[in-house]
Amino acid sequence: MDIQVATDPRGTIFIDPDAYTDPAAWHATAAALRAESPVLRVEAEGFEPFYAVTRHADVFEVSRRHDLWHNTQRSMLMDEFTWQFILSLGIDPKTLIHMDGDEHRDHRAVANDWFKPAAVRHRQQAIDAIADEFTQKMVDLGGECDFAQDVAVPYTLRVIMSIFGIPEPDEPIMLRLTQGIFGAADPEYLGDLTDPMELGTGAINEFGDYFGALAADRRANPTDDLATVIANGRVQGEPLNEHAELWYFIIVATAGHDTTSYALSGGLEALLRNPDQLAALAADPELVTNAAEEMIRWASPVRHFMRYAQQDTELHGVDIAEGERVLLSYWSANRDEDVFVDPMRFDITRPDAGELISFGVGAHYCLGSQFARRELRSFLPKLLARVDDLQLAGDPQWTAANFVGGVKHLPVSYRVR
Ligand code: HEM
Repeated sequence: MDIQVATDPRGTIFIDPDAYTDPAAWHATAAALRAESPVLRVEAEGFEPFYAVTRHADVFEVSRRHDLWHNTQRSMLMDEFTWQFILSLGIDPKTLIHMDGDEHRDHRAVANDWFKPAAVRHRQQAIDAIADEFTQKMVDLGGECDFAQDVAVPYTLRVIMSIFGIPEPDEPIMLRLTQGIFGAADPEYLGDLTDPMELGTGAINEFGDYFGALAADRRANPTDDLATVIANGRVQGEPLNEHAELWYFIIVATAGHDTTSYALSGGLEALLRNPDQLAALAADPELVTNAAEEMIRWASPVRHFMRYAQQDTELHGVDIAEGERVLLSYWSANRDEDVFVDPMRFDITRPDAGELISFGVGAHYCLGSQFARRELRSFLPKLLARVDDLQLAGDPQWTAANFVGGVKHLPVSYRVR
């Protein structure tokens, strides 16, 4: 993509989807920015200006001060043309990541208990059963596969669908819908459609029909699934309206799928490039807890969120006026040398892995982080118990996407034990 930047040209790495397909080059630029201009003003043609925040401490501070820094309805980076076009279509995004203050607190409370550690633990057996199924799929594939597409995508999709309580036959619809919204930046996911916006609005309409029917069913026949919690959710004593309910379904479906899939595929790629660590993990499955943290730090599948200053302020010596915005670069913050020793080294035993900022911080901290962690921890030991000689069998490919992305093709070869 040809991005015209009036300020420091290195600012393009945060905008250009293609920049994210070359992690080594991206991280080299981000490291230089952390050292030289950790709060970088970026003025690019077609975009409202923003400041790219690349250091861990600054991403942390902005996230923590949710009174001073708001998400607003524009919590992800988008060019002005696309944003105006979305509004002109009557699409009115309203999810937890588009809300602030009491409204956000009250809506988050609808599902919060369901995501607490004790409640998530209750789902462990279901996650393990799905992990078994997909290890078996790899065994059945006989020694070669595209781990990202054959395993990571469908495994994480099945888990999120089981959380919702959506039956397996409906998974292809859901996959199309989640990739239609979050994958639209990557040409591979556009299919026959030449207009990504058409894909986006089509996906939202389909979501509306699908989830509307699901919610009606769960009001009539409540179960213990997440669909039931959302369908019967109340804010300030009133039922969620149809619009809020639809967007609640959308945020959990989209936020819970691609993210975890990229954490798994990107984490496995790193393990394959470090065979000694893969061997260590196979020999000692206890290492998996820290390994999962390191994989999620390394992959950092959510590349950024935006925040808007609610009053004149200052960040790392840079004055920022009320109404101006910052881009929180999680991928960069997760390689900050002030926090992680030798940050460009993937190390499943690193003591500082827990400092990862991949799930954000504060009021908007990822609701599904326990699920994501459990999905990785459940799958890896099962996989390594069944296959041996796991190796890269071709060049991995990365998504061209500046919001959520990672390794989309991971050709691997292996021997079934
Ligand atoms: C490795 C996988 C995942 C990553 C890297 C990730 C990352 C994130 C990040 C960075 C945020 C915003 C945090 C902030 O603004 O401070 C977020 C929010 C959220 N995530 Fe995740 N996520 C993952 C998996 C999941 C899963 C599995 C689910 C659901 C089952 C989920 C549901 C959500 C929801 C609902 C929010 C909005 C929370 C709010 O605004 O209050 N995520 N996630």
